Formats: sequence, structure tokens, C-alpha cells
Amino acid sequence: MEHKTRIKGNVHYVGVNDRNKHRFEGMWPLPYGVSYNSYLIDDEMVALVDTVDICYFEIYLRKIKQVIGERPINYLIINHMEPDHSGAIRLIKQHYPEIIIVGNKQTFGMIEGFYGVTGEQYLVKEGDFLTLGYHKLRFYMTPMVHWPETMMTFDETDGILFSGDGFGCFGTLDGGFLDTRMNVDKYWGEMVR
Ligand SMILES: [Fe+2]
Repeated sequence: MEHKTRIKGNVHYVGVNDRNKHRFEGMWPLPYGVSYNSYLIDDEMVALVDTVDICYFEIYLRKIKQVIGERPINYLIINHMEPDHSGAIRLIKQHYPEIIIVGNKQTFGMIEGFYGVTGEQYLVKEGDFLTLGYHKLRFYMTPMVHWPETMMTFDETDGILFSGDGFGCFGTLDGGFLDTRMNVDKYWGEMVR
């Protein structure tokens, strides 16, 4: 079955669009809305990269299950703790209690403080890697891009960088998630802003 979420191989986009919020974190106007970007790697071991705002959890879970059905998710990789990325951690943990959370030494205290989530952890530092089967992921610390705990995950197998907020801007993803198949004009001004 062909998935509408496929980026490349078994890497899927499972993010959601928010067209309801007027201001991001109550401060930043959102004339074009905002997307919460999360990715699912459907390998021998399944990994979820970042999550979405908690308000969109039902849609999010549906998108995940459209890819993996009732298979468990083995790893939840947290590149960034800002709530538009991390907001669904607690609910993901409730639905997948065996999930192992992947983060760096800054991440776990924030997860417990923000969401009261503890449990099995995989602590990574600069250059560490995680093999899912076909995919080999390597982690790079990027503190203050844009919070102290931020890191990036590089899929060395398919050459995909999961960059968190590193190149981020506001705006929904209308009709797709690959820049080669979208009109990206509206994002440039947003990126400058
Ligand atoms: Fe951020």
C-alpha cells in the first residue's frame, strides 16, 4: 500500500497542520498558521522523531497507525523540548508504555519537569548512533538552536537530517511536505521574520 506520508523509503512525515492558532506561544502572529513536524521511521525497530502539539494528538496517532498499524514504537527521539515539538510525549508514552526515549543529558530532566514522564531512556552525546535495522541514525548536539537541549538526528542511510527548529519557520504545509512538490514562496518572508 502506498502511503501519502512517505518521504523516502520507510521514512514518513506524520506531522500536522494547525490553522486555528492566532499567536504562537501567545506572542508571535501566525498569518499562515503553523505545522508541527514529526517523522516516523518504519524499520525493524520503529522510531518516532519528535512529536506534535498536544491538541492534535488524535490526528497524529491516526497518522502513525496508518503507517505501522498496531506495531509498537520502539524509540521516541526528542530533538527539542519546545512544546510544539514535545507536547505529545506524555500521551505517546501512555499509548506506547514500552517506548524508549532518546535524548541527551539536558533532555530528560525537562521531560520529567514538563510532562512527569520517566521510564526507559537512551542517553546520547555528540556523534553517538542508533541502528534501527536498515537505518543508522547519528546524533549531533546543537545547544541553543534553539534551546539548551536541542540536537539534530541524521539518518546516514537515506541522508536525511531531522533538524528540529534549526531551519524552521511558521506556516502550514499545504498539500504536501516535500519542497519539490509545494509552492514555498510564502515561507521566505516567514523565515526572515
Ligand atoms: Fe524551538
